[in-house]
Amino acid sequence: MSLDPLQPPSRIQASMVIRNIGQLVTVAQQPVPGATGPLQVIEHAAMAIHDGTIAWIGPDNTTEPLFQTDEATNTQDISIVDAEGTVVTPGFVDSHTHLVFAGDRAEEFHLRHSGVSYTELLAQGRGILTTVQATRSASTEALLALAQARLETMRLHGTTTVEIKTGYGLDRVTEEASLRIINMLMAQEKTALTPQMEMRIIPTFLGAHVLPQEYQDRREAYVDLVIEELLPSFVGLARFCDVYCEREAFTLEECRRILTRAKELGYQLKVHADQFSSSGGARLASELGATSTDHLDYASDDDLDALREAGVVATLLPGASYTLRMPYPSARRLIDRGLHVALATDFNPGTSYCENMQMIMGLAMSAMGMSLEEALTAATINGARALGLQDQIGSLEVGKHCELTFWSLSDYREIGYHFGVNQVSTTLVQR
Ligand code: NIG
Ligand code: FE
Repeated sequence: MSLDPLQPPSRIQASMVIRNIGQLVTVAQQPVPGATGPLQVIEHAAMAIHDGTIAWIGPDNTTEPLFQTDEATNTQDISIVDAEGTVVTPGFVDSHTHLVFAGDRAEEFHLRHSGVSYTELLAQGRGILTTVQATRSASTEALLALAQARLETMRLHGTTTVEIKTGYGLDRVTEEASLRIINMLMAQEKTALTPQMEMRIIPTFLGAHVLPQEYQDRREAYVDLVIEELLPSFVGLARFCDVYCEREAFTLEECRRILTRAKELGYQLKVHADQFSSSGGARLASELGATSTDHLDYASDDDLDALREAGVVATLLPGASYTLRMPYPSARRLIDRGLHVALATDFNPGTSYCENMQMIMGLAMSAMGMSLEEALTAATINGARALGLQDQIGSLEVGKHCELTFWSLSDYREIGYHFGVNQVSTTLVQR
């Protein structure tokens, strides 16, 4: 069966047809007939979905006669959604979040404004360790409820896929509880009664976030715990292993040991690298073939070239620069060097307490030199690349999963221009 939108077949199987889409911003990676511009936008579009997969995309003219349901040709069994002339894009893929934690760090936020730096707080045993204390003392139920509420806020702002890291437990019990919570969220989202509430969740183990208090004088013992006990027992609970490669966190050698073991065990890799100093983390990410490396404020040109050659996605997190009032890394520099750049919230209580990818796109455009087209690409298909999911999600193309964001806009060029308010009306995920 040909699925060429300009030569539609007489019948396409569909369970849902979305009509009257003012602009379908496909972000397609292949040219789409009838679409224009770098984001491959189709004006006045329709889309058919079957078994959670995009079955057809094309102009909205003679839609109904084209579709049939599984059993019969009774088109009344197809649910028809009217997009009312608005913009539809791929759902945001937020590929870097620290969503499972208790407590807050408002006090430290204001202390920083009076001159105490983030790294000074970390060195004083505050920062991430403040949140570790609060998370260890919280019940599983409380942590789960907090995570659920945050996920719902993300969804309301247009996110359909979220990577979630542990890293506020830093002991066997709380790291495992955090991973189980993330897995509960995954199971729950799959069985949700209201399909539009669904989200795709990707779990990451970040045991090497900082050295926990009780190991302050025994660094090696903690790294050994991660390598010998935690990594092997979390296989199957986490898809990625991440490390925080930074002066105040873990050394390059410690990160190398952890990630090498993780890779042997079948984890995909991520690296928090070069946020406050040139740590060598980005180079390590390229050596070990990490899927992404994130932050990169201090990465050198050579590091960037090595990342590009190794196919590692560069994830920028402007929410952290905003919160810490640090200079923003230049996205332009990375894009011009040929890297795939992703944008993510880095949602966490210390450096980026923000669930909203629209805000992150806005910062990327206003402060990091990205065009709207680059920012939307970074927040969708390149977020998918940062999770190794680019063949399944992140753009609207026939054969990909249906994960959509509906906007209360009739022109996508208003994204980032009209700022500080939520421009998303809803999301739709079909399985
Ligand atoms: O990505 N850098 C390490 N992790 C977070 C901060 C976590 C926190 O401060 O609680 C980040 O910025
Ligand atoms: Fe982070």
